[in-house]
Amino acid sequence: MEIKDEHGRTFKTLRVSLTSLCNFGCVYCVNSEDKGGLNDINSNAILHLDYDKLADLVIHLHKILQFESVRLTGGEPMLYQNLIPFIQILKSSGIKNVKMTTNGFNLKQKAEELASAGVKDINISLDSIDPEIFKVIARRNFHRQVIEGIDAALKNGISVKLNAVIMRGLNENQVLPLLEYAMSKKIGLRYLELMRMGHFYSKNFNEYFFPMDDILSVINTKYPLATSAYRNPSATAKIFQLENEYEFGIIANESEPFCSDCDRLRLDSAGNIYGCLSEEKSEYISDIAGDEIQLSEKLIEALKHKQPLKFKGSPLMMISIGG
Ligand code: 5AD
Ligand code: SF4
Repeated sequence: MEIKDEHGRTFKTLRVSLTSLCNFGCVYCVNSEDKGGLNDINSNAILHLDYDKLADLVIHLHKILQFESVRLTGGEPMLYQNLIPFIQILKSSGIKNVKMTTNGFNLKQKAEELASAGVKDINISLDSIDPEIFKVIARRNFHRQVIEGIDAALKNGISVKLNAVIMRGLNENQVLPLLEYAMSKKIGLRYLELMRMGHFYSKNFNEYFFPMDDILSVINTKYPLATSAYRNPSATAKIFQLENEYEFGIIANESEPFCSDCDRLRLDSAGNIYGCLSEEKSEYISDIAGDEIQLSEKLIEALKHKQPLKFKGSPLMMISIGG
């Protein structure tokens, strides 16, 4: 069965949300009342699949789709109890690229184990170099732990990219410090435009939105940009080069949407697949994992949920569906 839509899109990368728990409470992700998802502990214990069942789902999906990469997200994926065995199952079933997106808090402890399990790429959320601003955005005073986590990942040979969501009035003054930090560490950096998700779906979005052009203007005041910029097929980030040859990315969901060649599929830890961040609908697949025909039918349904061109936003929270 061919899994392709009328725009020629299919699923080539999978993001697995291992848990909707998080030990941070980032303002762009959760409302203050949500307490970073930590309220969910009991309901999660019931809802979530055992790690071997979840891994089995990933493997069956991989058989049909031949993913180029599988990215582990959350919530905070490092809070997942069976993280390392889960990764080991994926790797031993032939999934070569297992990546992760994390807040970095536990990386200092876990970097070595992750590297041994074969994780070579990690995206770390870092929205500020200034610890005070970090504290306002993450609602936790954990700046030092994240910086130490980055160092631990690098020491263990893991390639690191930073994700920085830039919000007007909160951390626009961190655009340059983040760039300078990333350049000094020789690591990747991607700025993200704020996305209309969760509590930003219905209110306050315009107040905090800081567009790509404004990010570029700030950078240009100190580091002139080289002329050409490009976006690789199916990538989220547009890549810019400075005259000093350092490259950084901007994920400009609003200013330059990238739905038209999106190849991303999402799976949550309860066994639901999502074809699109902009669509609340999901397909439950945990009861049909072994049935390739039924699974393919669900994938075709999920593919229909993709937006043709532009991300419209969603009341779903990133903490449950995964960044
Ligand atoms: N807008 C943009 N990015 C978001 N993330 C979470 N919520 C939002 C939002 N509203 C992304 C951040 C974080 C990752 C886990 O999810 O990049 O680093
Ligand atoms: Fe946690 Fe990531 Fe959401 Fe921040 S963005 S609260 S680190 S899941």
